[in-house]
Amino acid sequence: MPLHIILQSDVSATSLNITSLEKRAERLLRLLCLKRKDLSIVLMNDADMASFNKKYRNRKGPTNVLSFPARDNEAALPFVIPGNELGDILISVETAAREAEQAGKSRDERITELIIHGLLHLLGQDHERSEKEALSMWEQEQKLLNRLNQTGRNTMAHLAINVDHVATIREARGTSEPDPVLAAGICELAGASGIVVHLREDRRHIQDRDLQLLRQTVKTKLNLEMAAAKEMIAIALATKPDMITLVPEKRQELTTEGGLDVARNHKKIARAIEKMRKAGIPVSLFIDPEAKQIKAAGEVGATFVELHTGRYCDAATEDARDREFNLIAESAAAAAATGLRVNAGHGLDYRNTPRVAALETIEELSIGHAVISRAVFVGLDQAVREMLALIRPPFPER
Ligand code: PXP
Repeated sequence: MPLHIILQSDVSATSLNITSLEKRAERLLRLLCLKRKDLSIVLMNDADMASFNKKYRNRKGPTNVLSFPARDNEAALPFVIPGNELGDILISVETAAREAEQAGKSRDERITELIIHGLLHLLGQDHERSEKEALSMWEQEQKLLNRLNQTGRNTMAHLAINVDHVATIREARGTSEPDPVLAAGICELAGASGIVVHLREDRRHIQDRDLQLLRQTVKTKLNLEMAAAKEMIAIALATKPDMITLVPEKRQELTTEGGLDVARNHKKIARAIEKMRKAGIPVSLFIDPEAKQIKAAGEVGATFVELHTGRYCDAATEDARDREFNLIAESAAAAAATGLRVNAGHGLDYRNTPRVAALETIEELSIGHAVISRAVFVGLDQAVREMLALIRPPFPER
């Protein structure tokens, strides 16, 4: 068990909610991608804290929090438990209670803040080194607190189904079946709130005729994925989908490989968006979850961004997946804060989707391959309904 909460002397007699504290500390470790590390949180009174403060910092009196990183000197750690130790965080519950009262917050809230502060110290940050570091540490503390306090959404994200792969099967034989137009109707009947198709330059799956028929039959919302190329812009203006999503497109790729580099293609993308704006077609930009791309998307006048979830979905280890998930969560919040509407997609399946669907700033998920693959075995209607059931709140605790 990586997290140890240790109660010193008379602290056990107080009314601390240890289970909730444990949950918050575990969630923080997860947010910081440290869930496999051992951490000891030791709750003590002022007298005990004063003696640690004297012994380790040669300072008089109690303080609110002290942290001892394992890497400094493992042998000297007061509460060391051998193994994959991150360190110890010592908190004076009495000082925390006094500070909580002064700030008008609960003691549990203050203890949580102190755990965050202690954790950042364990990760090598130190507000005493410089004003710049103090500001950056404070900002990180606020960010972590916000993430921790997010209760998750209680409205459901929309599900848009990408039917390209129905056309891929059809094109494998060059016949007329299976029909992506019929598939779109089944998805809508099952509860999807949108249909997505990618008309590629090489027409490897969806054909121009499919697009025209879909425009006539889709009752929910038709989202046309396309490159910002002259030919596609003309097709979009003639077809008038409900929205378009600009994606990078390379001929040799199996599927869309990375996000658009909006920052480097500012002019070209801004020109395409302006043409769509005049035609009343909202534009989404498929981007990697990066601050630079979000900023550029806002500058070129996009209405939506679609955050590329591919790296999260393909992550080989749990830690890497957590890191990628954090990037998506932070990017979604940042994009929404700048006024962009936020969608997400690529690689989402029946295991990795609920976590993304729980992010309250994400409006819509665009999912293709996983749903069409499952449909082979359980039928398309059932595959869409199963995905809808997964993205419906309440979500299991993250
Ligand atoms: N979003 C975009 C921009 C895409 O290019 C794709 C793949 O066509 C998807 C979402 C759907 O990805 P997947 O088929 O892996 O669910």
